[in-house]
Amino acid sequence: MSLFPASLLPPSSLSDLVLRPLHKDDHLLGHLDVLAVLSPTPPLSAEQYAAICESMTSRPETYYPIVVFAPSQHKIVATATLLVERKFLRAGGLVGHIEDVAVSSLAQGRGLGKVLVVTLAALAEKLGCYKCILDCSKENIPFYEKCGFYHKEYEMVQYFGAAKKPLPATPTPTSSAPAPEPSPSKAANL
Ligand SMILES: CC(C)(COP(=O)(O)OP(=O)(O)OC[C@H]1O[C@@H](n2cnc3c(N)ncnc32)[C@H](O)[C@@H]1OP(=O)(O)O)[C@@H](O)C(=O)NCCC(=O)NCCS
Repeated sequence: MSLFPASLLPPSSLSDLVLRPLHKDDHLLGHLDVLAVLSPTPPLSAEQYAAICESMTSRPETYYPIVVFAPSQHKIVATATLLVERKFLRAGGLVGHIEDVAVSSLAQGRGLGKVLVVTLAALAEKLGCYKCILDCSKENIPFYEKCGFYHKEYEMVQYFGAAKKPLPATPTPTSSAPAPEPSPSKAANL
């Protein structure tokens, strides 16, 4: 039923709410509605949802989606996923990627987002990752700083198919604007 063993998660500080791995039938508890605060999340049939869960569990030790379940409302109010990537560098090191952090609109501002991120960072460390990274908007940087992260690189993106977007206009460089400093010892920090 769970996408990964609940015993991997550190003890939760939440009272009246349950922090747990995603279950294969969590579409019935509003999992997709919560994700919709983050990005378009069209409805999925039960079969489609099951197929996505199956695709994740068929790649063991890779996907760790978690949810916060509110028993009083019988629905999921927050969710996030840890994705674990195996590298060739760092002698086959592991990198944790925190993805799809979303708290339902009515539950925001109560510490749930921080619980999700801190929990997944702790899980990444427990699983042997040497670092944990994530992409976010500029507006959310202060939130992630409160979760123990700091700003380092920049995100680049290319969309495909129906999601394809034109390149945004590049601002004209001005002589007064100094070129950005190259990242020091980037190779050592991959
Ligand atoms: C961003 C989001 C995950 C934060 O979750 P949340 O449960 O509302 O945040 P929390 O209550 O856990 O906040 C933890 C701390 O960060 C602060 N914080 C939260 N969002 C912040 C923001 N945008 N800017 C500055 N501080 C912020 C809170 O004030 C709190 O500070 P405190 O510990 O000093 O009290 C949530 O608002 C959300 O789902 N937003 C829409 C989707 C989204 O943007 N997801 C992130 C994708 S990268």
